[in-house]
Amino acid sequence: MTAHRIIDRLHIDQTAELEKLKRGLLASPASIEPKYFYDELGCTLYAAICQLDEYYPTRTERAIFQQHRVEIAEAIGSGGTFVDLGAGDCCKALGWLPFIEPERYVAIDIAGPSLEIALANMSPEFPDTEMIGLVTDFSRHLEIPDECLDGRVTLFYPGSSIGNFAPPDALRFLREMHGYCRGGGLLIGVDAKKDKARLDAAYADALGVTAAFNLNALRHVNRVIGSNFIESHWKHVGAYDPVLGRIDMYLESIMLQTVRIDGNGRSFAMGERIHSESSYKYDRAEFMAMLLEAGFKSPRVWTDEQASFWVFYAQT
Ligand code: AVJ
Repeated sequence: MTAHRIIDRLHIDQTAELEKLKRGLLASPASIEPKYFYDELGCTLYAAICQLDEYYPTRTERAIFQQHRVEIAEAIGSGGTFVDLGAGDCCKALGWLPFIEPERYVAIDIAGPSLEIALANMSPEFPDTEMIGLVTDFSRHLEIPDECLDGRVTLFYPGSSIGNFAPPDALRFLREMHGYCRGGGLLIGVDAKKDKARLDAAYADALGVTAAFNLNALRHVNRVIGSNFIESHWKHVGAYDPVLGRIDMYLESIMLQTVRIDGNGRSFAMGERIHSESSYKYDRAEFMAMLLEAGFKSPRVWTDEQASFWVFYAQT
């Protein structure tokens, strides 16, 4: 039928976003938003993280999907529009399309190039599914153009990416998603709270891939705002805070140094940190309550033997 098409909405508000990035770096404590991980190399490094022994979420979610594929697909129903939030290489959606056979597949991601490649490869395999790539940044607000939505809408938000939102923002985002799943529902993967040792290892792996992923944000930032961060002057810190129920990742300055940011010299003390990511973990009941609070009905949940990851499907 149709080839895929790409809608590029990334240019909107880019200057405001870059201002925000500079302000975050000049502030104390300094911060970078996690979306700056995902340039081309960052996407590759994240794919490598997903293959690490220590990083269980991707593998565990995949196993849950595989084990309960038919049951979950039945809950979702067939046809309609299947919207993939943070599609990346579209690998996860690829497993669902043969079971759901949607009329339209909408892959949304901030990283345009990988989306283009994935859709070009996929579209010949699914001649009866219209394929749209929407390149946009939904970290602040989810906006899906009307032309992408038709019939019953299923939102797919896997990988525990919801964990990057602080709980009040996660609730707001769930509400936004609820507004889009007309007559359909939300299929979402959420990482569970668990013992600190296992979580710490997942975010500070022995090979140093997560460290490279974190440090690469500095290279990306240098490119977009012309700063002069030197990666070797920073080290990766990633650890679970059981009280806050979240992983925090930082880039820690290993020396006293000055970085040029927006015409200013920003000095960083030795040991000073830039916060780069929080990754919240949820108990089953906690997340269930958030889904209900956001307006979803009759949530169902699937998990692995160790209850280390949740897959929820909730209807509108
Ligand atoms: C893509 C946000 C789900 O929080 O586990 C992996 C990103 N950061 N290792 C996560 C990440 C460090 C990941 N998410």
